[in-house]
Amino acid sequence: MTAHAYTVAFEGVEARPVEVQCAVSAGVPAFAIVGLPDKAVSEARERVRAALTAMAIALPSKRITVNLSPADLPKEGSHFDLPIALALLAALEILPRDEVARTMALGELALDGTLVAVPGALPAAMTAAEEERSLLCPLASGPEAAWVGACRVLAARSLTEVVRHYSGAAPMAPAEPGERPAVTGHRDLRDVKGQERAKRALEIAAAGRHHLILVGTPGSGKSMLASRMAGILPPLTAPEALETSMIHSLAGLLDEGGISRARPYRAPHHTASMAAIIGGGRRASPGEVSLAHNGVLFMDEFPEFPRTVLETLRQPIESGEVMVSRANAHVSYPCRFLLVAAANPCRCGHLTDPARACSRAPACGEDYLGRSSGPLMDRFDLRIEVPPVAFTDLDLPASGDSSAIVAARVEAARARQAERFADHPGLRTNADAEGQLLEEIAAPDEESRALLLRASDRFGLSARGYHRILRVARTIADLAGDDTLRRPHVAEALSYRLVAARQD
Ligand SMILES: Nc1ncnc2c1ncn2[C@@H]1O[C@H](COP(=O)(O)OP(=O)(O)O)[C@@H](O)[C@H]1O
Ligand SMILES: [Mg+2]
Repeated sequence: MTAHAYTVAFEGVEARPVEVQCAVSAGVPAFAIVGLPDKAVSEARERVRAALTAMAIALPSKRITVNLSPADLPKEGSHFDLPIALALLAALEILPRDEVARTMALGELALDGTLVAVPGALPAAMTAAEEERSLLCPLASGPEAAWVGACRVLAARSLTEVVRHYSGAAPMAPAEPGERPAVTGHRDLRDVKGQERAKRALEIAAAGRHHLILVGTPGSGKSMLASRMAGILPPLTAPEALETSMIHSLAGLLDEGGISRARPYRAPHHTASMAAIIGGGRRASPGEVSLAHNGVLFMDEFPEFPRTVLETLRQPIESGEVMVSRANAHVSYPCRFLLVAAANPCRCGHLTDPARACSRAPACGEDYLGRSSGPLMDRFDLRIEVPPVAFTDLDLPASGDSSAIVAARVEAARARQAERFADHPGLRTNADAEGQLLEEIAAPDEESRALLLRASDRFGLSARGYHRILRVARTIADLAGDDTLRRPHVAEALSYRLVAARQD
């Protein structure tokens, strides 16, 4: 008779249910796994065999067949070890078949029968809850899976512990959700002297999720400013925390067990590979753009990133989703991030300083920033020149608003947006609004319409540019607590765009 166990196969952030069937029959002794397994799944055979031997359970001299169903769904990873071992133990009547069939399991087995943590326990627990099964996973994965309240999670140290649980010798207690201590001690915006315009741009970017690029000489404080972004963003809402944690779970980054409410802040180096940034690789894992979902992607020394990476970024920026290809399928991961980029104006960095610029100025600046193509530069709603701070400014005591004060204004502006988009699931910030909806929520008054008309005549704004100005102006009005789009809001939005026109 066939025994059944259940597990999942991952497709992007989705965990699809998989049935593991195990039949033990008379015939030439063998142990076969069928149903589109990859190499890691096929190797499960050896690990399961060794783990059972370690528990003094010998495999019978019979034909053992394990089938992973549905057969057309690709099965990747080492987490199939535990469900295969469960199905086999149930087929051998060592574990109760009905109880095994009520459980969804994932986990890798070490040769001595210890359970090794695997990525994806959180999405697996979501699927287990939908299927009305409990989840059995390795000890370290328990705290993250237990966040799915609707699912009973059992987290075991070893296969021996699992057997003792089912036999009633030593029942396990359900796992508790893990807590991650709130991150404190963010670097404060007040530490940055001067640079009022850049700080204002940071606040607008945070409030409406508008992409921002800071251009300035080395040492002017660009990296310093960008690192303050994390401290002015509001914590993740509950649905956002779950979305982001699913991706971090798949990347195996939730090993402390907790779900964090802090917005992710990812700062990949420009030498990181395409797969590391965009996603993909042998196991089609999420890249930095997806790990930054609902948070910040900071790309320091932006023009130094390979051109192929920069070009590939355009589509994910626009759609909030990235397609990652692997051997036989494409998967997509969400990647709705706030892009903050920093760049020197030219390779040596002194283009804007007449005293120190090299002999190739200004052509070298066009060469350098021109490497990130026009259409990509067009994605930045806010483009800020960061001048070097004068020594006299550095010498002054810290002034301006602290991160906490700015964060409160950002949170209030985000609350206005949440209310505005309450009937539009999927839209969260002004940056997400498009077409008809954008025209409704950001209808300029007479004066600002005249201003926009003049600006587009003079600077030749593209349709995309025009809409981007409206979005930023809407956020500026939200920060001011104003329902109407007025001239000062539009004028300020235009000022961040026109630097751009000059650079293009
Ligand atoms: N506006 C500023 N206020 C205070 N310190 C500054 C400022 N700008 C730069 N610095 C100092 O200079 C250092 C280098 O700044 P950094 O952000 O790395 O510059 P960049 O990224 O533009 O090359 C900072 O660590 C800080 O000590
Ligand atoms: Mg820097």
